[in-house]
Amino acid sequence: MEAAAIGNLIAAQRPGFCLEQVFYRDPDIYARDLERIFLNAWLYAGHASQVPEPGDYFLFEFATESIIVTRDREGALHALVNVCRHRGSRVCLTGKGRARRFTCPYHGWTYGADGTLLAATQMPEDFDKGSYGLKRVSLRLFHGLIFVNLAPDPVPFDTIEAEMSAGLSPYRLDRAKVAHAADYPIAANWKLAVENYCECYHCRPAHPEYSRAHALAAPPAQWQKDLERVKARAAEVGLSTDFVDHAWLDADAFGTERQFWRYPLLHGHQTGSRDGEPVAPLLGELTGYDGGATDIQIGPVLFGLAYCDHVVLYRFTPVAIDRSVCQVSWLVNEDAVEGRDYSVEELTWLWDVTTQADKTIIENNQKGVNSRFFEPGPLSNMERFENRFVRWYLAAVT
Ligand code: FES
Ligand code: FE
Repeated sequence: MEAAAIGNLIAAQRPGFCLEQVFYRDPDIYARDLERIFLNAWLYAGHASQVPEPGDYFLFEFATESIIVTRDREGALHALVNVCRHRGSRVCLTGKGRARRFTCPYHGWTYGADGTLLAATQMPEDFDKGSYGLKRVSLRLFHGLIFVNLAPDPVPFDTIEAEMSAGLSPYRLDRAKVAHAADYPIAANWKLAVENYCECYHCRPAHPEYSRAHALAAPPAQWQKDLERVKARAAEVGLSTDFVDHAWLDADAFGTERQFWRYPLLHGHQTGSRDGEPVAPLLGELTGYDGGATDIQIGPVLFGLAYCDHVVLYRFTPVAIDRSVCQVSWLVNEDAVEGRDYSVEELTWLWDVTTQADKTIIENNQKGVNSRFFEPGPLSNMERFENRFVRWYLAAVT
């Protein structure tokens, strides 16, 4: 699609309305999404606890790309492009494991955990192994969270670091572990999945379990008083009520979207669980429950919800134009013991049932959007973040 054609589509987009069908269906636009957004932004790859020992690795994959996140012998982390420097085969085929070296399954070129090419048989004498290590992309470790950026010259991570560190510190996510992670494949364009995450207009009809406890399911006027109570108590238990709101706002800060704000849980809930009771030990340095939860966003497609006893992370990645994956990770203190301090079933219950429901509504949304009769409708007051997302998205792909 010509730039002018995209420009016309963007100009025709009605303010305050959801996106036109073409943005979810056109292969050129999908390619542009990958190019402009996913190949340029800081993306959450995983948690440091998933590669605790030298030689540990896992794959972070989306659309056509595959990155091997490794820990080398010295303990340093690397983000290596999983494309053989010989003829381009995937080098690593298993999603996670421990390996001193990676041997390409095609012709056997062998790479170290830092990407160095160690061996390649039958090559001419003047072959310079030093020039054919695996390519690498930028990696940033932030409070135990591993972010990668595939751009040659990434946007600085510093603004995220400067604004988000104080709020995240008390949770000590650098000393947390992934108690459970699950992939939820969604038969829908990635934007429909992210848009759904950005608004809670759907929470009442779609998420009765979530709506019992979370104020965002109700209009703000109903919970402002509760917010004051939570703020006062948050300070007592060692939590920050820092308010950071750069979600979908600054086109010039593209790729470093960030958000951090605490809001109340309802009806005496202490955490996001089946009955509102804790499902894991208090996180990090917290000394009690304040009856609140913090919404987090880092970069365009990583969202989180920090309760006092666990943190849930949601990462959205595209697979194809009409398919995406929501990966949900549940973090608890690294020394918490399954069976004694938490049960995976109870820990994951709320956000498993909620994400299953989201998968269904997002897929139904895609089916309707595919119809020749689909026409974008107006957004409600409870969809202001989606409205921001739409504007941000249009600026990002312009
Ligand atoms: Fe990897 Fe040939 S493509 S060794
Ligand atoms: Fe939802």
